Amino acid sequence: MTQKRISRRGLLKETGLAATALFAGTRPLRGLAQAVNSQTRIRIAVVGGGFGLDFHWHEHPSCEVTGVSDLRPDRRVALQSRYQCETVYDSLESMLREARDIDAVAIFTEAPNHEKHVRMCMERGLHVISAVPACLTLEEAERLREVTNRTGMTYMMAETSYYRHYCIAARELYEAGQFGELFYSEVEYYHPHIGHTISPLSFHEGQRTWRYGYPPMLYPTHSTGLLVGVTGERFTEVSCLGWGNPENPALKDNHYRSPFNVASALFKTDRNHICRCNVFWDGTAEGERAQWFGTKLTFYMPGSGGQPFRLQGPEAPEWTELPDYWGRIPQTLTHNPGHGGSHPFLTHEFVRALLEEREPAVNLDAALNMTIPGIVAHESAHRGGEQLTIPQL
Ligand SMILES: NC(=O)c1ccc[n+]([C@@H]2O[C@H](COP(=O)([O-])OP(=O)(O)OC[C@H]3O[C@@H](n4cnc5c(N)ncnc54)[C@H](O)[C@@H]3O)[C@@H](O)[C@H]2O)c1
Repeated sequence: MTQKRISRRGLLKETGLAATALFAGTRPLRGLAQAVNSQTRIRIAVVGGGFGLDFHWHEHPSCEVTGVSDLRPDRRVALQSRYQCETVYDSLESMLREARDIDAVAIFTEAPNHEKHVRMCMERGLHVISAVPACLTLEEAERLREVTNRTGMTYMMAETSYYRHYCIAARELYEAGQFGELFYSEVEYYHPHIGHTISPLSFHEGQRTWRYGYPPMLYPTHSTGLLVGVTGERFTEVSCLGWGNPENPALKDNHYRSPFNVASALFKTDRNHICRCNVFWDGTAEGERAQWFGTKLTFYMPGSGGQPFRLQGPEAPEWTELPDYWGRIPQTLTHNPGHGGSHPFLTHEFVRALLEEREPAVNLDAALNMTIPGIVAHESAHRGGEQLTIPQL
């Protein structure tokens, strides 16, 4: 295992990547996997053995897993096995006290703990990739901004929709100007019963989990990410309506005081565009999906209702299927554990961003632009759909 502490400037010098990296912006670069000195590795710790098991950090050629942690013993064992890592900690807190061989932490803990856990890691001089959402309140968003600015640590949000291959395709068509003006989008995330009393995820050992009654618009990023991840524009205003299934007891006494398990928001953006954004925990539709409407091209993602993939427009590419993006990541990482093939792309982007000393694709700015609009939309739903301004942090 590499014992060397990562010095970011030193790394750039060592790998000869400085010139390209510093001007790389937030776009993932092709073919750099081969260019990196094979001795240079990011030492990462993985915390949270639920969703945190669905990645392959140890198989990235420039990354090694030097610690794993979960509060639950069964999940500690699962993490050790997944990442072939002997070093295990019984909590993030003990890891931060004891560990001396970590450069970055992958935080896959509960949504209400993300902001606190990110802060703890950054205060300790560690870079962070965090599961979605970035945070649950505007105050937490401000604290994330403050700690990231003060410590200079790198933040990335592991928003899977950003690297869904349909989203990669839409982003690249947009960047090539093929949409014309992309004036309207419909973005949606449907996950029936999550947060309901009938869902096993709502309870652990008889106790309610954070998912019990969790408000849909506090989990907006799989939807909002499908616009931010394509055009990069900012949400500026929102009016949102919520609905709660009266047969769901979790809506009567949850920790969030949320009566909604369905929410539909209409956003305005800084480019004066319109975005209809749904997050539903009820009904029968499933999955994450978008349709993007431009003056020259309309792009329909396939959906659980049998909606086909279609590109419509006089100059639309004649694709029957998507281009193959798998060649952009190291071959050892070419697993598809779900979420549209996104996990290895997130892994590669975070590792590459650290090595190249650049902002990752879903940096804090993008993460907050995906997260804060939902926080304000939830407030709008509480106020019966009142149109509210979205603060730009
Ligand atoms: N597509 C996606 O992007 C996607 C999919 C699933 C889950 N998620 C996100 O991933 C996160 C984890 O989801 P999950 O379903 O695994 O949640 P979970 O509640 O099942 O797991 C969280 C784990 O974190 C551990 N943990 C909490 N505090 C800790 C601490 N101080 N030290 C060590 N371990 C600690 C808990 O013991 C628990 O095992 C959530 O934020 C969720 O929103 C994202």
